[in-house]
Amino acid sequence: MSAMPATSSNTNVSSSAVPMHRSVCQQLQHHFQQIRARHMRDMFAEDPQRFERFSLQVDDLFLDYSKNRITAETMALLTQLAEESDIGGWRDRMFSGEKINNTENRAVLHTALRNRGDQPVWVDGVDVMPGVLAVIDRMAAFAGQVRDGAWLGYSGKRITDVVNIGIGGSDLGPQMVYQALKPYRHPDLKVHFVSNVDGDHVAEALEALDPETTLFIVSSKTFTTQETMTNAHFARNWFLQHAQSECHIARHFVAVSTNRDAVVAFGIDPAQMFEFWDWVGGRYSLWSAIGLSIMLAIGHAHFLALLQGAYDMDEHFRQAPLAQNMPVIMALLGVWYNNFFGAESQAILPYDHYLRSLPMYLEQADMESNGKSVDREGHAVDYATGAIVWGASGINGQHAFYQLIHQGTKLIPADFIVSMQQHDSLQSHHDILVANFLAQTEALMRGRTLAETQSSAGDQSWLAQKVFAGNHPSNALLLKQLTPHSLGMLLAAYEHKIFVQGIIWNLNSFDQWGVELGKQLAKQILPELSQHDAVTTHDASTNGLINYYQRWRKER
Ligand code: F6P
Repeated sequence: MSAMPATSSNTNVSSSAVPMHRSVCQQLQHHFQQIRARHMRDMFAEDPQRFERFSLQVDDLFLDYSKNRITAETMALLTQLAEESDIGGWRDRMFSGEKINNTENRAVLHTALRNRGDQPVWVDGVDVMPGVLAVIDRMAAFAGQVRDGAWLGYSGKRITDVVNIGIGGSDLGPQMVYQALKPYRHPDLKVHFVSNVDGDHVAEALEALDPETTLFIVSSKTFTTQETMTNAHFARNWFLQHAQSECHIARHFVAVSTNRDAVVAFGIDPAQMFEFWDWVGGRYSLWSAIGLSIMLAIGHAHFLALLQGAYDMDEHFRQAPLAQNMPVIMALLGVWYNNFFGAESQAILPYDHYLRSLPMYLEQADMESNGKSVDREGHAVDYATGAIVWGASGINGQHAFYQLIHQGTKLIPADFIVSMQQHDSLQSHHDILVANFLAQTEALMRGRTLAETQSSAGDQSWLAQKVFAGNHPSNALLLKQLTPHSLGMLLAAYEHKIFVQGIIWNLNSFDQWGVELGKQLAKQILPELSQHDAVTTHDASTNGLINYYQRWRKER
């Protein structure tokens, strides 16, 4: 496969190289030219120790990265890149509460939320840990009451359904973890997630629910997000239609937010609010009170195990040398493909039914963090930054999009995520699942030559179509079992991977200005949809579409 230049909507991006002020990049470029045509088959044949050399165990998590287009020299040079990028320094700055989110003048401390050690964490001279622990205790007390049936709805019935109303980071993380940890859930408490402002979402979620036994969590860092507030008001009205009196709201609505005033203005008593802080990014917030729906579902002890798993990965990330550091290795491999091979995307392929929402969660975590074309200082970058992250359940993907990964023209590095032990007792199902995962990574790596194709049984026509080039890179991330602890480790590993890549690309991974313009325009367009006169103030396409909608809206 030949190297392809990175492309971007930013027309300044002309080179696939990482910031050239890092001196090792010249060496990496040179090394890339030497290695780009080499096949992993040959690398495996030459080095019987390749699996041992390029794999790493950290507690519950095992990473095999030997099926990558790397040699020991590649990893040494990439590690040098990490050193030159001062990953260690930035990591320490993040953990110690420095305001590394420079455009918002904020610290970045999702790690404090899962700090299970006794170290203080300072922000502006204040140790945030007592506040963090106090909120966890309040969440535990509340969740315990709901789970035990001590917290009753207004008519004296116990809560059977929880509806988390939120979007983006206030939805994707809790929803994914709730799904992932199904075997740990309370048997008589269901959690539903409403995010879309398409009214069908909230209407459908509520149609089977009983207001007397339903608890709403309005989850929003800002408490101003249009989609969430619209759905929250709808839910409030739905509830009041049945309960009649506003005094019942306190038993059925709680808020999770950093914005106390807006929570009060909505009509939720601050005593019913679970707080978090501006140093928690939305997409990094499942560890905070945003995880209340998770704690309600799985209980305090399992929630703490989730935090502990993340903390254990944090400690590994802080202490392991860069060359044996799992998130750093994952990040460097991503940079290798993104900036040298010109790969544009990264596939996330869970071979675990309970992890089927992980790709969607990582889409936000990664792309909202590193989808930037301006560096920390505000200069346009001339190198490729965040990859397009996508994926789906691997086994289903095999029967849908794997064709393109195997035989298409794109290089798509893929992460395969697999649990060794399943929660059900269907061992033969699990064996088939694991056999397929193994077969796919082997096929991607080895491919099938013309000679092998000719000597294989079967129809000998159309041989060219039946040859597989192989040499497609993949990581295998193995969990002994999907537990709160191993899930915490896995998610923290990806968070730190994203962080390391952001540092190498000299980005602020913790702001998201790119989502603002659309929000502003939507506010401007909303009143235009119901006005009588035709709209003429936008471009011809947008005017045309608004006026088309107006016509159908009037007819309804
Ligand atoms: O619009 C993007 C975003 O700001 C995300 O970063 C965030 O997770 C989501 O919206 C929801 O925001 P909030 O929690 O403030 O409602």
